[in-house]
Amino acid sequence: MRYLLDINVLLDCYDSGRQTRFPDSVNIVHTLRELSADIFISSSSLDNLHFIKWKAIKDENPQFTARVIYELANRFIASILDYATIAKTPSYLALDYDDLEDSQIIASAQAVDAKVITRDQGLLEKYSDIAVSPTNCLLEIQQSHEQISISFLDLKKINQCYMAGLEHAFDSVINSGWYILGKEVEAFEKAFAEYCEVPYCVGVGNGLEALHLIVRAYGIGAGDEVIVPANTYIATWLAISYTGARPVPVEPCEATYNIDPARIEAALTPNTKAILLVHLYGQPVDFDPILDLAQRNGLKIIEDAAQAHGARYRGKRVGSLGDAAGFSFYPGKNLGALGDGGAVTTHDAALAEQVRVLRNYGSRVKYHNDVIGYNSRLDELQAAFLRVKLPLLDADNARRKTIAQRYFNAFADIGCILPIIPEGIDPVWHLFVIRHPQRNALQQFLAEWGINTMIHYPIPPHLQSAYIDSGFTEGDFPVTEMIHREVLSLPMGPTLTDAEIDRVIAGVRAFFGG
Ligand SMILES: Cc1ncc(COP(=O)(O)O)c(C=O)c1O
Repeated sequence: MRYLLDINVLLDCYDSGRQTRFPDSVNIVHTLRELSADIFISSSSLDNLHFIKWKAIKDENPQFTARVIYELANRFIASILDYATIAKTPSYLALDYDDLEDSQIIASAQAVDAKVITRDQGLLEKYSDIAVSPTNCLLEIQQSHEQISISFLDLKKINQCYMAGLEHAFDSVINSGWYILGKEVEAFEKAFAEYCEVPYCVGVGNGLEALHLIVRAYGIGAGDEVIVPANTYIATWLAISYTGARPVPVEPCEATYNIDPARIEAALTPNTKAILLVHLYGQPVDFDPILDLAQRNGLKIIEDAAQAHGARYRGKRVGSLGDAAGFSFYPGKNLGALGDGGAVTTHDAALAEQVRVLRNYGSRVKYHNDVIGYNSRLDELQAAFLRVKLPLLDADNARRKTIAQRYFNAFADIGCILPIIPEGIDPVWHLFVIRHPQRNALQQFLAEWGINTMIHYPIPPHLQSAYIDSGFTEGDFPVTEMIHREVLSLPMGPTLTDAEIDRVIAGVRAFFGG
């Protein structure tokens, strides 16, 4: 729900005479605030609004000094900006010279995909597809409320929280004239290395490439084997297959869904070079036994941290536990870009340098290519966006934790299996995954309640056509296959409202009979 408020509607809310004459203006603003809707005001309205308020204060209080009047008008604008975001007038607007102000308001609203709430009859008639009166808007909301729908993850709303910073970043990169491997990528790498508590970070094209370049940089290739979880997203396996090495799957613990350290030893051969572990759903793996095993067998440990930005294992950040880690900044991740992006974090200076070379055509010096490299660089624009979002990652993760706690409390006494968090593990709830043999029926039931859920993942990598030549068949990894049959991811994300959480809880509880 995204709405841009016209000046007349805003003024109705702040003047007692207008409040009585136009109660629906007051009602709609109140309703939108209650529903945590995205509310905007056009940048083209600000000056006008300030002037109208300034004049009203001046007329009502002739004894006030000019400075005081100005300050009061400023405060009025600031109080609106407490709940409304400025939508800038875009440079591509089609100016209507019959009514400059209206065309600016419409262009601002279109730019942020919002409807305009206005009492201006001319605006309502001329732009009937986008403009709506307060009264009709209240009716629309009432009707849509009856068919309420809860997104699994509302990316528009998430990025809305960073709107001002993202716009600033966008303007700054566009106007810098430098779009590949510049100061934004450099600054983000520094900030993300600090965040992950490692000395090195290298920005790359995406999470799969982050993992692939690590495997390649460690010289792992044809004839080598790498231990991987059987229960993961296919990218973990692909990163190994790209190099010609063989992914060797190991079953997860049924309780945590992460790779079972006790089963790794049996999968080792003289060809094993590394263990690629995944902090699935945002929950760090049981790392110490894996470290011990890797040290005893001379193996590298690579972390797939694509789902776990900010999680901690015994106080240490993921991304700093093994020899190197790959992160994804796919938009839906806890730290998501507005497109693809990824990074490698490591304590290993030589590895960082090698990944830097590999990501850029195998080149250290322009037009001198030392190895057969790739084009896999984090964009300047994505790095600039990520720099805006990184400082709030911990706050977003804290909100996810609160939501997870509410789910734990609400589902403690019903028949589904909840996540189990072993001692020393601090997850970041990329996903909140519950398990039940009637998973499909539960998903269908929730869909009828307007609650969108997802399955992570419906088909395990060993049963994907892509790996048909590996000779795996159904039944080879029974724990993984059972997990894939039974898991369901509930809505989870930093912008989920309390009312939405209540609804999810009510829906799940209703399926289990209250
Ligand atoms: C566990 C895991 N590994 C790797 C990746 C790959 O990341 P990307 O989509 O950025 O290539 C993903 C993301 O989808 C993931 O969830």
